[in-house]
Amino acid sequence: MNKPLLIVSLASLLLVACGKQEEQAQTAPPAQQAESAMNELNDAAANAMSGAKEVMSEAKEAVSETAGSVIAESKEALSDAADNAMAQTDAAVTAAKETAQAATAKTQEAVTAAKETVKEAAEAATKETQQVVTEVAAKAGAVAAATQSVLAKDDALVLANKSGCLACHAVDKKVVGPPWQDVAARYRGKDARTQLVDKVSTGGKGNWTDVTGGVPMPPYSPRVSKENIEKMVDFILSL
Ligand code: HEC
Repeated sequence: MNKPLLIVSLASLLLVACGKQEEQAQTAPPAQQAESAMNELNDAAANAMSGAKEVMSEAKEAVSETAGSVIAESKEALSDAADNAMAQTDAAVTAAKETAQAATAKTQEAVTAAKETVKEAAEAATKETQQVVTEVAAKAGAVAAATQSVLAKDDALVLANKSGCLACHAVDKKVVGPPWQDVAARYRGKDARTQLVDKVSTGGKGNWTDVTGGVPMPPYSPRVSKENIEKMVDFILSL
């Protein structure tokens, strides 16, 4: 039962009671009439109260049912939403994992490629460096050899000057004896070292008569050591 209906029924009960009171007022004595009217009013009030209680109890029940179902529905909805959210979170986590794995794979690929590039570059650089080092070493060797031969020539010429040879010899022209270039040319490819060391040590004539007119070379041993004579002969043969 709802509220307006309750009010209407209470009102009609009162109206009926009042009507009866009027009827009784016409027939019964006033004190009796008043008492019966009171009784009827009491009955009506009691009825109304019990009706109201019933309505209240029904309303409570309805409210309780409604609340229960609303709570149940809410719970269900919340549970669904939570499930949904969990599922979405799981999916997001899975997707993130996949993305991370893909990124890791790409990074590894890039690192591998970079390593290879660096290795190749290092190898190329090493090769080039080795080549340069080899070339530089070869050049240094050549320079050292040239320097040594220049020094040896200088030494030999200094020695020849000190020993007095340059009074009768020059490298490229005749003085008294033959030019040393010509001596070198005559003995090139022949094993003349010992013979020439002996000739300078003991002196002599006859080999260059057409150049010298038969003038002899003086002996140099023991005034000049054998070692120094060998040095000078080696120098002459190297010209
Ligand atoms: C006084 C002059 C004179 C002096 C100093 C002199 N030479 Fe000679 N040298 C000659 C003559 C002359 C000949 C040519 C000899 C010949 O015809 O066999 C000659 C020849 C040589 C030959 C070639 C010999 C051969 O048999 O082909 C050599 C090498 C030589 N001299 C080295 C020297 C040396 C080294 C010195 C210094 C240690 C020296 N000479 C000092 C005059 C000299």
